[in-house]
Amino acid sequence: MTALTTLPAWQHMLAHAQRLKAMDLRHALAQDPARAERYSIKQCGILLDYAKNRIDDAALVSLFELARTTGVEQKRAAMLAGGRINATEGRAVLHTALRAPRHAHIELEGENIVPAVHAVLDRMSDFAERVRSGAWRGHDGQAITDIVNIGIGGSDLGPYMACEALKDYGTAHLRLHFVSTVDGWQLNHVLGRLNPATTLFIVASKTFTTQETLTNARAARAWLVTALGTEAAVARHFVAVSTNADAVRQFGIDTDNMFGFWDWVGGRYSLWSAIGLPILLFIGPEHFRALLAGAHAMDQHFANAPLEQNLPAILALLGVFYINGMGASTQLVSPYNQPLHRLPAYLQQLDMESNGKAVRLDGGKVDYHTGAVIWGEPGINGQHAYYQLLHQGTELIPADFIASLENPASSPEHNLILLANFLAQTEALMRGKSEAEVRAELLAQGLAGDALEALVPHKVFSGNRPTNTLLLDRLDPASLGSLVALYEHKVFVQGVVWGINSYDQWGVELGKQLARTVEAELKSGAPALAHDASTNRLIDYVRRALNP
Ligand code: F6P
Repeated sequence: MTALTTLPAWQHMLAHAQRLKAMDLRHALAQDPARAERYSIKQCGILLDYAKNRIDDAALVSLFELARTTGVEQKRAAMLAGGRINATEGRAVLHTALRAPRHAHIELEGENIVPAVHAVLDRMSDFAERVRSGAWRGHDGQAITDIVNIGIGGSDLGPYMACEALKDYGTAHLRLHFVSTVDGWQLNHVLGRLNPATTLFIVASKTFTTQETLTNARAARAWLVTALGTEAAVARHFVAVSTNADAVRQFGIDTDNMFGFWDWVGGRYSLWSAIGLPILLFIGPEHFRALLAGAHAMDQHFANAPLEQNLPAILALLGVFYINGMGASTQLVSPYNQPLHRLPAYLQQLDMESNGKAVRLDGGKVDYHTGAVIWGEPGINGQHAYYQLLHQGTELIPADFIASLENPASSPEHNLILLANFLAQTEALMRGKSEAEVRAELLAQGLAGDALEALVPHKVFSGNRPTNTLLLDRLDPASLGSLVALYEHKVFVQGVVWGINSYDQWGVELGKQLARTVEAELKSGAPALAHDASTNRLIDYVRRALNP
C-alpha cells in the first residue's frame, strides 16, 4: 500500500463515499433547504453551486482533511513561490507569474521574473497594435487581414479556445485561423482561402522541435515565398513564439520577430504567455490584460482562501471523492454557451496530460485511480445526443455545467430557453423520476394494466447523478481568465492529493519516437521487420499503398 492509501484521512474519505454512494439527493435537499446556500460560493464573477453532489458536511470535512494531510497548502505555497515542484524536469511551475500585475515580485533563483514577463507582454501589445491598426505592413505594403496560428497541443488549444470564447471581443477586420494537425488537408484548406500578401503566420511551439508544427510551418513558408517571389517576405509575414531562440533562427525567422517565454511555463499552461499572441491580436491589449487580471484574481483567491471556501479546492476534492471513492472514471464538462465550445477540448489537455499518471513523485506506483477522462461538447447539443446515458445509463458521470447569465449577442428569448435547459438538466439528473411518479404520469395519460406496467421500468430515472453548476455573470475576458485558472488550480490540487507530478508529460514521447522510425520505414522500399507482427504487417500494407 502507498503512503496515501494508508492515511487515516484517505480511509475516512472512502468510508464517507461508501456511506453516500446511494445518497438520496432529493431527500437531502428537502430535509435541509439550507444545503443549497451552504454548498454554494461565488468568486471572481463565478457562482459555484455544488449542492447536487453526493456529499454532506462530514464527507466534506474528510475531504478537506485529506487535502491538508497530503500537503495541498504547503505545495500551493511552494508552487506560487517558484519551487521546483516539477521534479522530473527540475523546473518551477510559474504560469501564475504570467498574470501577476506589473508591481508584483516573484523570485526565481534570486531574480524577480515579473519585469521580464511584462517586457514580453509590452512587446506583444505593441506588435498587436501595429498589426491591428494596419501600421504593420506585409512585404508589398498591404495591411494584414488574416492570421494563421501554426501550433499544436498547448500551442493551439488555449489560443483557439480563448479566441472562440471571446469572439464578441475580437476585431472584425482580422480573421484568425488555427492549423494544428499534420494532416495537410487542414493547412491546404486554410491557405486556399488566403491572400499571401495580407497573411501573417505565427509559428507557436515551446520547443520549436514539434514535427507537426515545423512541417506545417515549412509548407506555409514555401507557399508564401513562392507567392511573393522572395525569401525577404518572410520577415514581414512570419513571427515565432517559443522558448528556443536557436531553433527559431535555424528555421529562418529573425529573433527580432520572436516572442519568448520560459521553461517554467508548461505547454498546457501557456495561453497567458506569448503563446497567447493570437488572442492578443484578436481581442487587443486591453482585453488581453483583462483576461490576465481575471486569472490573477482566481490565483489570489486560490492562494488565500481557506480550503473550505476555495473554489478550485472544492472542485478538485469533489472529483477525488467520485474518482477514488465511488469509482467514476470520467468527468463531463458541459458548457452551454456556444463560444465555449472548445473548452472541453482545452480541459482535456489541461487535465489529462497533467494528471494522467500512474507513478508517484517518489517513483512508486499508485494503487488508486488518478485523472479521469475529461469529455464534453456544448451542453444543449449533448442533451440531444449523449445525455440519455447520463440520465439512465450504468455509469456514474459527474458533470460540470457551465453557463453565463448575460448573453448579449444572443436574444433574450434564446438565452432564457438556454438557461432553462441548463437548470432543468441538473435538476433532472439530481431528482430522477420514481416508479410511483412514472405510474401516476402514465395513468394520467390514459394507460393502464399490462401496457402501463410494461413501460414503467423504461421510464424510471434513478436520479442522484452529481453535477456542479458554474454560473458566470457574463462571458468576458476577465471571467474566462478566472474560469481557466480555476480549472488549472483544480488540476494542481488533485495532483497533490494523488502525489503525482502534474507538470511533466513523458507519456507522449514513446509514440513520437516510434513515429520517426515508422516514417523512415514507410519511405524505404524494404519490408518492415523491426516491430511486432501486427505493426510490421500494417506498415507494409500502408507502404505498398503509398508506393504502388
Ligand atoms: O506532445 C505533447 C506536447 O509536448 C504538449 O505538452 C505541448 O503542448 C505540445 O506537445 C506542443 O509542444 P510545442 O509547443 O513544444 O510544439
